[in-house]
Formats: sequence, C-alpha cells, structure tokens
Amino acid sequence: STAQVLQGKKVVITAGPTREELDPVRYISNHSSGKMGYAIAQAAVAAGAQVELVSGPVTLPVPAGCAIHRTVSAQQMHAQVMHSVKDADIFIATAAVADYRPKQVAAQKIKKNNDELTLTFVKNPDILNDVANLPDAPFTVGFAAESENVEAYARKKLASKKLAMIAANDISQPGLGFNSDRNALHVIWNGGDKKLPTGSKMMLAEALISLIAEQYNKS
Ligand code: PMT
Repeated sequence: STAQVLQGKKVVITAGPTREELDPVRYISNHSSGKMGYAIAQAAVAAGAQVELVSGPVTLPVPAGCAIHRTVSAQQMHAQVMHSVKDADIFIATAAVADYRPKQVAAQKIKKNNDELTLTFVKNPDILNDVANLPDAPFTVGFAAESENVEAYARKKLASKKLAMIAANDISQPGLGFNSDRNALHVIWNGGDKKLPTGSKMMLAEALISLIAEQYNKS
C-alpha cells in the first residue's frame, strides 16, 4: 500500500489536449491522450489526496475516487481551473493546452473556394502561468514538452512562470511522451533535480507524486 503522503490535501490536475474550433465541423488539436495526467491523478488518490481532474476530450476511464470536470477548449479549461484551484494545495499542469486559437470561428462550414486558405490565430490564456501567479498560489507543478535543449528550456519555464517544480519530457524520443504508454521525466525544482528514467506512465506518476509530496511538505 502507498504511504498517504498527501492525506487530506486538495490536488487539481489538468490532462489531455484542448480543441480549438474553426467552424461547426473542424478543430485544431494535438496528440495528447491524457494518459500521463490520468496516471498522476490515480497516484495522487493513492497518496490520500482529494483530486479534481480537469480534462480535455479523451476516452480514458476516470480513476476511481477522482472528481472530473470535462472541458474542450483552452478557454473552458482555464475557467474551470481558476475556479477549482481556489482552495487547492497543489496544482499539476499535465494538459497539452493549445497556445493559440483561431481568431474567428466561422458560423458555417468553411468552403473550398480558394487554392489557399489563411487563418489568423490569437493567444490563449496560459493556465499554468495564471495559477502560479495567484496571490495565494498553490504549490504549482508544470510540465515542459520540448524537442531540443530540454533542460535549459525547462529551467527557463521554472523561473519565468514562478513554478515550484517542473517535469520535462523530451518529446523527440521515439515511443515516449505524447500518446504512448511510456515516458521519461527530468524533474527540476529550486535547489534540486531528479531524472526519472524511462518507464510506464503509472510508475512515473507514482515517483512524481512522491517528489511533489517531499518538496510540498518542505515548503
Ligand atoms: O497526454 P499524454 O498522451 O499522456 O502525453 C503526455 C504529455 C506529453 C502531453 C505530457 O507529459 C506533457 O508534456 N504535457 C505538457 C504539454 C505541453 O503542452 O507542454 P508546453 O511546454 O507547451 O507547456 C508548458 C506547461 O504550460 C504545461 O504544464 C502546460 O500544461 C502549461 N500550459 C501551456 C499553455 C497554456 N495555454 N496553458 C498551460 O497551462
């Protein structure tokens, strides 16, 4: 049995992709399956936490004991998270949130009348940044999905977004990261770091929750 290292703590976790609508039949999204975030939610429940999972559209079963909030777009996920984190102790941002959304959502299906189609995008709110900068911010853990200079970019995000911890994954590694069952993480915080070698997302989630509990209980 897992030690109850997060007994009584409220943990909010984002998982999965977002979908950004273009017209009534099309959207822009990414390859996130939700597996990493759902595994973290399951590990947090096993550690005794009260867990709220804010999930983009995925087809995974919800881990027993988690409250689920289903969202579609980045703006919806942002609104739900800002509500859910009000009394949270820990926030973990595992979702692959679209950085941009189409500036206009066409009311009718876009027709193929031209040889070229140009879309304009506008920036989405940054959920992780907005939570980390709340006056009474929870212990905030970000993810970094990078294809090069993984550690340097992760350290930059840790500092610039004022995070307590960041878990970096190298998405250039075949078979790891988006949509696979396995991953590898380099977890970095102010004052230390730990490499969690390749393993199942469930094993990594348990190791990550242990590290979070250790640092949270020191903070
Ligand atoms: O879902 P899986 O198939 O299991 O795959 C897992 C994963 C690869 C998606 C996951 O391990 C991961 O790396 N998640 C973060 C993906 C990502 O979008 O990273 P990023 O470097 O673009 O974003 C950095 C951080 O900011 C992330 O914590 C992200 O959740 C957060 N963010 C980003 C943009 C935004 N508008 N709001 C955010 O909260």
